[in-house]
Amino acid sequence: MAILSSSIARKVAMALSGLFLVLFLAQHFTINITSVIDPETFNNLSHFMGHNFVVQFIAQPILIFGVVFHFIMGLVLEIRNRNARQINYVSFKGNKNSTWASRNMIISGAVILAFLGLHFYDFWFPEIVHKYVESNPLDATRYYPELLHKFESPVRTGLYCLAFVLLALHLWHGFSSSFQSMGWNNKYSKGLRGFTQFYAIFIPLGFIFIALYLHFNQ
Ligand code: HEM
Repeated sequence: MAILSSSIARKVAMALSGLFLVLFLAQHFTINITSVIDPETFNNLSHFMGHNFVVQFIAQPILIFGVVFHFIMGLVLEIRNRNARQINYVSFKGNKNSTWASRNMIISGAVILAFLGLHFYDFWFPEIVHKYVESNPLDATRYYPELLHKFESPVRTGLYCLAFVLLALHLWHGFSSSFQSMGWNNKYSKGLRGFTQFYAIFIPLGFIFIALYLHFNQ
C-alpha cells in the first residue's frame, strides 16, 4: 500500500492498530470479569456476542484484520530498524537509556501471538465448530461451564498467566509510545503516560486474576 511507504505513516498505522487492540482488550476484560462476579451475566453476554450479526460478521473480521495488521507492521518495523541500526545491541548498553520492554517488543509480541494461537484453539475454533459445523441448538447456559472446564488444567492456566506477564510488558511500552508516534505532546502527556502505565498493569493483572480464580474454583 503506497500510503504506508513512509516510516512516519508506518509508525502511525502501528500506533492506531495498537490503540484499537487496547480498546478490544478493555472490552474483552469487561466481559470476562463477569465470569468471576456473576456467571449468569457472563453466559448472557457471551450468548449475545456469539449470535449478534454485527459482532459476528462486522466487528469480528475487523478485529482479526487489526491483529494481523498490527503483527505484520510490527515485523516490518523491526526488520527495517535492525537494518538501519549502525551499532548492534550486542555491543550496545541498551539498558542505560531504554527499558527491556521497549527493546524487546518483538519478543513480547511473538509470545502474545503464540498465546493467541492457543487461545483460538481453546475457544474460537470449538465455538465455530459448535455453531456452524455441528449446528447445535441454542443454549445460553453453556458458556460458563465450558470456560471453567478450560481452566481445569494447571499447565494451560500457567501458560495463560505467563502470556499475560508479557502482555503487560508489551503494553507498558506500546500503549504510551503510541501517543508519541502520533505526535501527541502537550500538557496532558504526563497524565496520559500515567494512565497508560496503569492500564498496562491493571488489565493483564486482571486477566491473571480471572485465570487463577477459574482454576481454583472448579
Ligand atoms: C483469562 C483471560 C481470558 C479469558 C478467560 C478469555 C476468554 C475468551 C473467550 C471465552 C473467548 C470466546 C469467544 C467466542 O465465543 O468466540 C475469547 C475469544 C478471544 N480472545 Fe480471549 N480471553 C482471555 C484473554 C485474552 C487476551 C489477553 C487476549 C489478547 C491478547 C484475548 C484475545 C481474544 C481474541 C482475539 C478472541 C476472539 C474474539 C472473537 O471471538 O472475535 N483474550 N476469549
